[in-house]
Amino acid sequence: MTVLQETTRPITQEADFLKLKDLDHVEFWVGNAYQAAYFWQHAFGFRPVAYSGLETGNRSTCSFVLEQGKARFVVTSPYHPDSEVGAHHLVHGDGVKVIAFQVADVEQAFEATTSRGAQGLLQPTETRDEFGVLRHASIAAYGDTVHRFIDRGDYAGAFLPTYRPHQPLGEVKPVGLAHIDHMVGNVQLGKMNHWVNWYHQVMGFRQLKHFDDKDISTEYSALMSKVMENGTGRIKFPINEPAEGLRKSQIEEYLDFYHGPGVQHIAMSTGDILGTVAALRARGVGFLRVPDTYYDMLPDRVGKIDEDFNAIRELGILVDRDDEGYLLQIFTKPIQDRPTLFIEIIERHGARGFGKGNFKALFESLEAEQAKRGNL
Ligand code: FE2
Repeated sequence: MTVLQETTRPITQEADFLKLKDLDHVEFWVGNAYQAAYFWQHAFGFRPVAYSGLETGNRSTCSFVLEQGKARFVVTSPYHPDSEVGAHHLVHGDGVKVIAFQVADVEQAFEATTSRGAQGLLQPTETRDEFGVLRHASIAAYGDTVHRFIDRGDYAGAFLPTYRPHQPLGEVKPVGLAHIDHMVGNVQLGKMNHWVNWYHQVMGFRQLKHFDDKDISTEYSALMSKVMENGTGRIKFPINEPAEGLRKSQIEEYLDFYHGPGVQHIAMSTGDILGTVAALRARGVGFLRVPDTYYDMLPDRVGKIDEDFNAIRELGILVDRDDEGYLLQIFTKPIQDRPTLFIEIIERHGARGFGKGNFKALFESLEAEQAKRGNL
C-alpha cells in the first residue's frame, strides 16, 4: 500500500470563484418515475413533496421530488419516446442525470464556468409562475451528466415551475439520512486527470486526496481515484477511472452498462448507521457483504470505537480509521437492473477519508457479484 498523499491546501477567496452554496438536488432519469418514487419512499424513507406531470400541465415528463434530511432527489421519466429523457433512458437506463447546486447568482456561475471552458447547455433563464421567479442555467459535466445552477431566492413554489405540492401515499418512515456526503463519478480509462483538472479549472474545486491503483486494487477490480471538493468543503466529488487488472475492472463494468461515464454512487450521511442499516435491511435493501474474516481482524485494525463490534458484524457494516478519526460505511448492491448506480451509507467520527482500508475486502466482495453477472 502506498502512503496517502494529503494534497489539501487552503483555497483562496479568488480560487473559489464559483461560490457554490450547497447541493440543491440530484435528478435521476428513470423508466418509471411513479415506481422509482415508491422505492425511494418505502425502501429509503424519503418523503415525496412535489409532483410535475400531466395534471400540472407538464405533457412531456413525469417527476416526483422526494426529501430526507437535507437531501433532495428528483425522479423523472418520459411520457413519449421522441424526447430527450426517453432517448437518454434507452441508452443509459436509470441513473443520475443532473447534479444541481444552489448559487446566489446564476448568471455569474454560468459565465464563470463557461468562460473557463465548460460547455453551456442552458443559458441563464428566468422561469416564472404564481410563486415567483426561479433562475437557473446548466453546463455539461462528464458523459451525459449535467450540472445545474439554481437560485431559488425569489421563488416560493414547491420545487420548480410546473411542480405542485404532493402528499405521500402511505406512511413515510425516514431512516435517518441527513445529507449527501459525496457523489462519485466513473470516467473512461485515461480521463480521470482530465476531469480532475476540469473541476479545478472550471469549477474552482481542489484536490483532496489521491489514491492510486496500488491503494485500491485487488486482483481484478483495479481503479484509480482522485477526490475533488468545492471551496466550502461541503461538496465532494471523487472521480474514478479503471486501472489495469487481470480481468475486467468494476469501473469498466459500469462504463459498459451505463454506456459511458456517469455517477457510480451517492454516499448518504447518517448519525446512526446501526439504526439506518437495520431499517434499510428490514425493508429489503440489499447490501454487499464482506467475508466474516474481515470482522475477526477489525478490533485490532481500527482500535476503540463507540459502536458495538457484534452489532456492526451482524449488519455487515465496515469500519476504517485514519489519523483524524474513524468512519463507518456500507454499500448497497446496484439499485436498478443494470450494474451501475449504488448507494453508500456513511457515518463519520472525525475521519475525512473514504474508507481506503476497506477497499480490498470490499472489492473482493464486489468481484464475487461481478462474476455472478458474467462480467469478470
Ligand atoms: Fe464513497
